[in-house]
Amino acid sequence: MTDLYAVIGNPIAQSKSPQLHAAFARQLGHDVRYEAILAAPDSFRETVLAFIASGGCGMNVTAPFKLQAFELADELTERARMAEAVNTLKFSAKGILGDNTDGVGLVDDIQDRLGVSLAGRRVLMIGAGGAARGILLPILQSRPADVLVVNRTAARAQALADALASQGPIRGGPLMAAGGEEYDVVIHATSAGLNAGEAPPVDYRVAPDGLAYDLAYGEDTPFMRQARDQGATRVADGLGMLVGQAAESYRVWRGAMPDVRPVLEQLRLT
Ligand code: ATR
Repeated sequence: MTDLYAVIGNPIAQSKSPQLHAAFARQLGHDVRYEAILAAPDSFRETVLAFIASGGCGMNVTAPFKLQAFELADELTERARMAEAVNTLKFSAKGILGDNTDGVGLVDDIQDRLGVSLAGRRVLMIGAGGAARGILLPILQSRPADVLVVNRTAARAQALADALASQGPIRGGPLMAAGGEEYDVVIHATSAGLNAGEAPPVDYRVAPDGLAYDLAYGEDTPFMRQARDQGATRVADGLGMLVGQAAESYRVWRGAMPDVRPVLEQLRLT
């Protein structure tokens, strides 16, 4: 029997998730159907419940519904609780499980595919919104020496650091707290570069064997340009994280981990 999954969001036409999950299912020889569902802003809950009633096994959740998915879930994983956002729903007789695979997608991309270990390293996170919150727990679980979160609104960075303080060495401050110092891994998690904007003005250097990573994807994002201008030799966009979070969702649903690399290579070509 064909198992049914979907991604839900608004807008949704741009989503690469159907393409990714179709590739995973082909790779693993699974009989899976994966749809894209556009939901009106005020009909998230009823759209999910209708999908469950039609036999759906799981869903990916994208903007603007990650918080509503968090509230809808009957049970949450620790990483979803910390993220206060859900990008993966799994349906079973026990109810609705809410998970968040964004952080693992990012950490796997940085460590496994880009080959930069986070253990014992200094991490600078630029941004303290939903995207930053979603990835900080898996970063701290990778045992960095230190994580500094800087944000235009310093109080938000401080609050995020306070919320995660029990999980590892993390501090928060204004953009200028980066202080022109050297970091091993710099992660850009603001929405400032989207829609032809500029990356926030932050003064940092990237260690010679380090990495500057943009959560957004594109060949040459404003943050990637900024990082290169400040001397970074290795920069990456977030396409690997996108494929990685999808693969981890697939694993949560079906217990089998797809091979990310060939799917990522294919995506780079399209
Ligand atoms: P997301 O889910 O994409 O993280 P969000 O929760 O609205 O969205 O957070 C947006 C992030 O981008 C925040 O860190 C925000 O900074 P503030 O907390 O100060 O608002 C940051 N951001 C957005 N536009 C920005 C800009 N022009 N300059 C600097 N930071 C910006």
